[in-house]
Parts: sequence; C-alpha cells; structure tokens
Amino acid sequence: MNDIEIDVKNLQRMLEAEEPVTVLDVRPGDERAEWAIPGSLHLDAYDALRARDPAALSEFTAPADRPVIAVCGAGKTSQLAAQQLRERGFQALSLAGGMKAWSLAWNQAEVPSTDPNIQVIQVRRTGKGCLSYLIGSEGQAAVIDASLDPQVYLDLAQQHGWQITHVLDTHIHADHLSRSSLLAASSGAALYLPAQNRATYPFTAVHDHDILHIGTARLTALHTPGHTLESTCYWLNNDLLLTGDTLFLRAVGRPDLEANPAEARRRAHLLYGSLQRLLRLPATTRLLPGHTSEPSPFDGQPFIAPLAQARQEIALLALNQEAFVETLLQRIPATPPNHQHIVELNEHGRMPEEDVTDLEAGANRCAIG
Ligand SMILES: [Fe+2]
Repeated sequence: MNDIEIDVKNLQRMLEAEEPVTVLDVRPGDERAEWAIPGSLHLDAYDALRARDPAALSEFTAPADRPVIAVCGAGKTSQLAAQQLRERGFQALSLAGGMKAWSLAWNQAEVPSTDPNIQVIQVRRTGKGCLSYLIGSEGQAAVIDASLDPQVYLDLAQQHGWQITHVLDTHIHADHLSRSSLLAASSGAALYLPAQNRATYPFTAVHDHDILHIGTARLTALHTPGHTLESTCYWLNNDLLLTGDTLFLRAVGRPDLEANPAEARRRAHLLYGSLQRLLRLPATTRLLPGHTSEPSPFDGQPFIAPLAQARQEIALLALNQEAFVETLLQRIPATPPNHQHIVELNEHGRMPEEDVTDLEAGANRCAIG
C-alpha cells in the first residue's frame, strides 16, 4: 500500500456506511461487463492512461467534495488515474489490487423472517457473486456454503450472540474455495457435507431427508443431483430453500463441470428430476440461491424469490425432460477458470499456497438461464 491507495476493506466499509464516494472504473468495456463494483461509474480510459495521455480522463466529472476511488483490473493503471485526478484537484485514491482484490469484498442482507426465533443472514461476496448463509436460532448458528474468510462468519455470529454449531456445504464447489472445513475447525462446529466419496477429510455425511436442528430451526436435506451428483438443497422449516447451484432465481445449475459429454447428459437428466422435485414443494417456498450473476449492491436487500416466481421466470422449467436436456446442453457457458484446481483443493479441504484471488479470478459461471 502506498499513500495513493485504499484497500478493499476500507472501500467496503465506506460503501456499507453509504459515505459519499465516487467509484470510477477505468477498465475496457469487455472487462467491466464481466463484473463491476455496484454504483461505480465507467470511463474506458485504459489505453489512454497506459499511453500516459494527460487528457485520458478529461471527460470525467464528479462532485468535488467527495473522494474518487479509481479502479482497474489489478490496481496499477488506476494509480495513474488517481494521479491525474489529483492534478485536477480531486481527492483521488486507487483501489489496491483492483478488481482482483475486490473479489473478496462482501456485504450482508437480512432475510425477512416469518419466525421470531430464527434469523437468516445472506452473506454476499459482492466481488464474485457467491452467496453464503448464517442461520441463527436460540444462541446456535449454522453456516452454509462459506466462501469468505472464517473470521467473517465468526464475527457475525458473535455480533448476534450465536455459537456456530453446524457448518454445511450444498456440494463440492468448482467456482470458489470452500472455507467450510476451515470454519468448522476454527469454530469447533461439526462439518456436514452431502454424502459422496470425493472429500478426503473427516465430515458427517448428509443424506436425503436428514434433519439438522439449529435451536428451533429444522433444516431438512433434499438430495438434488444434477449440477453435481451430491448436490443437496436445505429446506428451513418448510419455508426457505437453500438451493446451492441447483436452482437460481433466474437460471438453473450447469451439469457439465468435471464431466465428459455423456456424463453431462446423464447429469442433465438427473437435474430435470431434481428440479421437478423442488417444483412440487409449496409455491410459497422462498428460494435462497448459492450465487447471483450480478454484483450484490450495498443495499441490505436479499436475493430471494418465491418458488412460484422462479417457475414463471425460468423458461427452461416449463420444458419436458427431453427438451430440457437438449436445451441445457446447447447453452453450456464457458467453463470457469481454474475449476479443476479448485475442485481438487475442495476435495482435499486445503487452501492453496498462492494468492486465493488468482485462483478464484473471474465471475461465477455456474448458471444456465
Ligand atoms: Fe457449483
């Protein structure tokens, strides 16, 4: 860090506190289209800044009474931007590490509760789109799909007076490193994974219809193979459904990662059956997905929708099995970078030696709409 830089934690804190700040993204448009900071302005000044063009940011205007935070991919070109803006009288800073470092930024939103004894917090990795959940009840808490440093969940639990007793994953993830085994170790909680023979470290296997109790909360496991063979949804008190990467608010999970074409087809058929099973749950069931395809704003509003709404919005869900499988297989998006390495680390419960943001770079690509 030098004196022209601000780190991710401080920018996250400013946005969380709604402090007046202008975030200026200077990356090329195609990079910004992948992922961006919510509320940021865009000026494609990348080439001009690299060429040391003194007029690179001449089009930029913003209120002079608030800081401007310049952002680029890795935090180098944004320093040139901040320098130019300072010369024009702005209080300008550069986001250290750029969007790569921003991958670990997060915010939270409380899920509206229908039970005064149960609180659910959606923890959103806004820089990447991973959603994890804290379910608290009667002093106990469960964490589902931990994707951030364990301390984030330990601090949130402590703020609410909860002890983390259960740590769960919906499946073996391919797009981010699971922090679940680390969190279980640091909190003393039991680690639960869907039954499979891939994870090589100790865990308690969760089977279809298993029920876990967190205070007065009842979490029922629904085995929903397709995205992966072990993928499991967790149904909280017959109301909130934590769907992992099986069903999103406007898309369904992809069936092809770590699979050859024949296996992907088999999993697409399994996914169809799993989605039909979920669609038979009460239409008022509220979905809490494992990802979003857009950066989560610092607005405290959770990503949540009734099952009935997802059914209306996802055209794939109206297809018969054959059409569903064919359409799904035709729409497979590009594979996420490093997914094989990430899966391998998640199967071994290890964190990498290298910078995690290098390995987890890129937006989530787990959904097919
Ligand atoms: Fe996944």
